[in-house]
Amino acid sequence: MEKNNRDYSEKLETKRLILRKYNQDDFEMLYENYVSDEKVPMYCTWKPCKTFEEAYELLNSWYRGYEKHPEKSMWMIVEKSSNKGIGIIRVTNIWSEDNKCEIGYSMGSEWWGKGYMTEAVREVVRYLTEEIGFNIIVADGVSRTNIGSKKVLEKNDFIQSYTNPDGTLCYDYEQSR
Ligand SMILES: CC(C)(COP(=O)(O)OP(=O)(O)OC[C@H]1O[C@@H](n2cnc3c(N)ncnc32)[C@H](O)[C@@H]1OP(=O)(O)O)[C@@H](O)C(=O)NCCC(=O)NCCS
Repeated sequence: MEKNNRDYSEKLETKRLILRKYNQDDFEMLYENYVSDEKVPMYCTWKPCKTFEEAYELLNSWYRGYEKHPEKSMWMIVEKSSNKGIGIIRVTNIWSEDNKCEIGYSMGSEWWGKGYMTEAVREVVRYLTEEIGFNIIVADGVSRTNIGSKKVLEKNDFIQSYTNPDGTLCYDYEQSR
C-alpha cells in the first residue's frame, strides 16, 4: 500500500461531529475556541496563543507541514449543533513498512467531557484501519496524569504498550488483535 504523499483527510462524520480539512478561513474560529485556551496545551508541545497573530503563525505552521506531507492528515473537529471548529485530530507519524501510524488530538476545554474525543477517535481509527488499511494505530507521549486522554484511548480499544524514558505512555490499537 502506498502511504506517502497521499492525503487521507477525507470528510468524516459521526453522530455529533464533522471531521474535515481546515484552511486559513478557519483560523479565527480555531483561535477563539481552541489555541487561545490556556487549559488545552497542558499536555501538548505548543503554548496557548495570546493574540490572533500568534495563533495564525501556529495554525499556519501546522497547515504548511500538512501541505508538505499530505499523508499526515489533519482534521478540524466541528461540532454539528453549533457548526464551530473546536479542535483538531491528526496523523502525526507514519511507518509504512509496519503498516502503522500515530495519531494526536486536542480540543477546546469548553467541549471536554461530552464524549466528543471518544467519538472522533473512534471514527478516525475506523477510517484509518478499514478504509486506508493501517493495521496499527499508536498514541504516544500520553501523560500518566492525563486521565481524559487515557480513557479516550481505552474506550477505543487501545492498550498501553510501553512507558517512555520520560514516564509518558504509549498506547497501541491493533486491528488484528
Ligand atoms: C484529553 C481530551 C482529548 C479528552 O477529550 P474529551 O472529549 O473531553 O473526552 P471524552 O469526553 O470523550 O471523555 C472520555 C472519558 O474521559 C473522562 N474525562 C475526560 N476528561 C477528563 C478529565 N480531565 N479528568 C478525568 N476524566 C476525564 C470522561 O469523563 C470520559 O469518561 P467516562 O466515559 O468514564 O465518562 C481533552 O481533554 C483535551 O483536548 N485535552 C487537552 C489536550 C490533550 O491532552 N490532548 C491529548 C494529548 S495525549
